Amino acid sequence: MSNYVKIFDTTLRDGEQSPGATMTSAEKLEVARSLARMGVDIIEAGFPAASPDDLEAVRRIAVEVGNQPKGVSGAKVPVIAGLARANKPDIDKAWEAVQSAEKPRIHTFLATSAIHMKHKLKMDPEEVVQRVSEMVAYARTLCADIEFSPEDAGRSDPEFLYVVLGEAIKSGATTLNIPDTVGYTTPDEFYKLIDGIIKHTPGMHDGITISVHCHDDLGLATANALAGIQAGARQAEVTINGIGERAGNTSLEEVVMTLKTRHPVFELETGIDTQQLSRVSKLVSNYTGIVVQPNKAIVGANAFAHEAGIHQDGMLKHQTTYEIMRPEDVGVNQTTLVMGKHSGRAALRSRLALMGHSLNDEDLNKAFARFKELADRKKVITDADLEALIADEFYRPRDVYHLEGLQVSCGTLGMPTATVRLRGPDGEIHNFASMGTGPVDATYKAIDAIIKTPCKLLEFNIHAVTEGIDALGEVTVRVRSENDNQQTMDAQSEAMYSRVFGGHGADTDIIVASAKAYINALNKLIVARTEGMQA
Ligand code: KIV
Ligand code: ZN
Repeated sequence: MSNYVKIFDTTLRDGEQSPGATMTSAEKLEVARSLARMGVDIIEAGFPAASPDDLEAVRRIAVEVGNQPKGVSGAKVPVIAGLARANKPDIDKAWEAVQSAEKPRIHTFLATSAIHMKHKLKMDPEEVVQRVSEMVAYARTLCADIEFSPEDAGRSDPEFLYVVLGEAIKSGATTLNIPDTVGYTTPDEFYKLIDGIIKHTPGMHDGITISVHCHDDLGLATANALAGIQAGARQAEVTINGIGERAGNTSLEEVVMTLKTRHPVFELETGIDTQQLSRVSKLVSNYTGIVVQPNKAIVGANAFAHEAGIHQDGMLKHQTTYEIMRPEDVGVNQTTLVMGKHSGRAALRSRLALMGHSLNDEDLNKAFARFKELADRKKVITDADLEALIADEFYRPRDVYHLEGLQVSCGTLGMPTATVRLRGPDGEIHNFASMGTGPVDATYKAIDAIIKTPCKLLEFNIHAVTEGIDALGEVTVRVRSENDNQQTMDAQSEAMYSRVFGGHGADTDIIVASAKAYINALNKLIVARTEGMQA
């Protein structure tokens, strides 16, 4: 059996399904590029049948990330997968979206648990077997690389799974993914499930890859995925920061760093450049507005912080006393001093390229202007600052409203008041002044008065990108679209009006960063409404 575990990243599909994780297609493309650069083997780029926007986003990723970059040869190119339910229209759309990739994959699924077959599908087990056989065979007429998933496998009868999976192999599937869809199993049970599938599925052979896909409802996703790998699975389906439905998916960084840190236990390899983990985690958090909890393993802000005196004392004596991984291994604290106000355009271009951002001349000019502006206010500019600046300046949705100016007065001597100036969709300028309970509240009220989009602020987070009094402040917000008109709606519009959008903003002035983050989220919401983007 191979000692290589393929990393299948589903941040852009299962991860994006989590409330508020909606990304624009430019953001998805940038995440896909980063995943490819980090060495991910398969990128599940989306669910093309969900909407024309989803299909287009997957197609763009297939073209731009799923092919050898121009003028380069020998670079690792990831497989680009599109998800499809087990029906012809879905499979056709998935194929339409992924076919221009060098290595396309169709990933089709059908539920196999008694609960799902009876209540959701309303199908007999025999019908399920028949459908899997027909649809895998149909997908195989289009694409050579087919993955099949028996949804809710964690609660399915193993004997029935062997039959369904055997049919999938017979019809041409080469990857069998075993999802614990509702995060129900324990590591011991999941080990036995994978072991049984490998031993008892008819037609199982060396060319078939068994994959694990675990959800985190009981906090066991990583443990279950690793148990499945120990039983012989050689593909792990994961997301950055573990984002995903409900409590999330297995986190990429946890699986990869466990395999690396405990190499003597597993004796398995992945193709991931772990020094990029921290950066990609941040990128996904900024784009989705989903903040990484400080104590999150591997990528949380406190993952390498040592507060207790005894721990600090130990660390000073030897790093290995309290650290099982080096922060550098996951890309934390790699470079501090990068550039200052005398650094030129060429230096900025080469630093950004090293960080994985290759900007065209026009974008480089914009980045350089922002960099100079920041360098006037902050002496030392680090990679973290540059990352925040790039996230703030690029890959945003089309700017429907743009912050042109902001003036705030606050303190103990009067009511906090904000005057906001926005440029609207047709270039028109809007000014509005509002009072509030604090400067952020006043600013958001003024923005609401101009934009007039019914919504509710669900979450507001602020943190300093680096240490020091002159640090860049980074704000992420989550905003829920609301229907104020009380009009009755069809299910599709209802779904649209209850969606959550994340926003991100960075500035040395934290009120400006707050305004940018809020406008960023509202722009996404407006674009989604007007262009009918769907879940
Ligand atoms: O959790 C799940 O069952 C899934 C399948 C579509 C693979 O995401
Ligand atoms: Zn899932």
